[in-house]
Amino acid sequence: MSETIRTQVGIIGAGPAGLLLSHLLDRAGISSVVIDKRSREEIEKTIRAGILEQGTVDVLVNTGVSDRVLRDGHKHDGIELRFQGEGHRIDFPGLVGRSVYLYPQHEVLIDLIASRLDAGADIRFGVSNADLHGQLSDSPSISFTDSEGRDFLLECDFIGGTDGSQGIAKWSIPETERRDFFRPYPFAWFGILCEAPPSADELIYSAGDRGFALISQRSDTVQRMYFQVPNETSTEDWSDEQIWEELQSRVAGTELKQGPIFQKDVLQFRSYVCETMQYGRMFLAGDAAHTVPPTGAKGMNLAVADVLVLADAMAAYYDNGSTEKLDNYAPTALKRIWRGQQFSYWMTSMLHATPDEHPFDQQRRYGELEMVTSSEAGRTYLAEAYTGWPFDVSYN
Ligand code: PHB
Repeated sequence: MSETIRTQVGIIGAGPAGLLLSHLLDRAGISSVVIDKRSREEIEKTIRAGILEQGTVDVLVNTGVSDRVLRDGHKHDGIELRFQGEGHRIDFPGLVGRSVYLYPQHEVLIDLIASRLDAGADIRFGVSNADLHGQLSDSPSISFTDSEGRDFLLECDFIGGTDGSQGIAKWSIPETERRDFFRPYPFAWFGILCEAPPSADELIYSAGDRGFALISQRSDTVQRMYFQVPNETSTEDWSDEQIWEELQSRVAGTELKQGPIFQKDVLQFRSYVCETMQYGRMFLAGDAAHTVPPTGAKGMNLAVADVLVLADAMAAYYDNGSTEKLDNYAPTALKRIWRGQQFSYWMTSMLHATPDEHPFDQQRRYGELEMVTSSEAGRTYLAEAYTGWPFDVSYN
């Protein structure tokens, strides 16, 4: 026998999209229950990318999640694009009057979880057997087993499908109804976390004959760096010494400050969009609906943009009973998603060598980088996208 619980919006997935959705709904007086198969600890400890657009920061601060990003995050006023041995700075405030913040995603999750639990939210961590029912009916539901082995049926008006790229929500849409697009890439990133002081004040995106490298930061004592590797690479393939040698050779001109490497991972690159973001009363948001390669630093920012539109549409429904905004959710969100896809694809293909790259294409990419960095229009195009376009809705 399962116990029945009832809420207005049942949310599957306690990542940035699900937690922010629950938070914004609460501010509009709408109840929600969030479930996730991971433990709270696992969610708060999984290290992901760290660039927040100014608009994303504004949402967190202005809606009262936390202002820790302003204290513990690092404001970055530019990035460096490096190619053929020379660095070219993109000055964000000078070009578009906005900046970005380096503040890792798991810190955002720590803030969101704390803020939700403080407000008395119902979040069930460590659930199993989650399944979605009745998406096309007026009374959808989510069945699951909680961390203590008890079975529940969560009845709701709407389902928020925010369970990430590996989740079940989008696969619950029959293939014949689902319109989606997938693109793999013939390379991956080898990522490290190390204990060392920063080697540079801002991020360095470097394209070279040996492939791409990114020098990023986490804090004054922890640094994040990546270099492009073939798809089949495993973390065991590279010794620490080889990693430092490879990274250093790819950013010649900057002396990397080395320190103990305490995490290694290989990040696969994929572009994916599920345009069927509405299936009856289920709405997909964030990575459940789309993933981008990390080169454009757009992942979490796109999730936040989706959720702003979705929360606003749900609030309108509960306010006046109209489904107009809900029906417009997918088309509205998709405009920004495809911009984000284009920007991420563009940055990726401009900066990475494909394994069998024709010498012409390598020179052409350097030509493209030269054109972008030497023209104010080019730099502005990049800065506008990297720092994020204005949101489609206002929020309270
Ligand atoms: C990161 O710090 O992990 C990071 C930063 C920028 C990117 C990707 C990853 O484009």
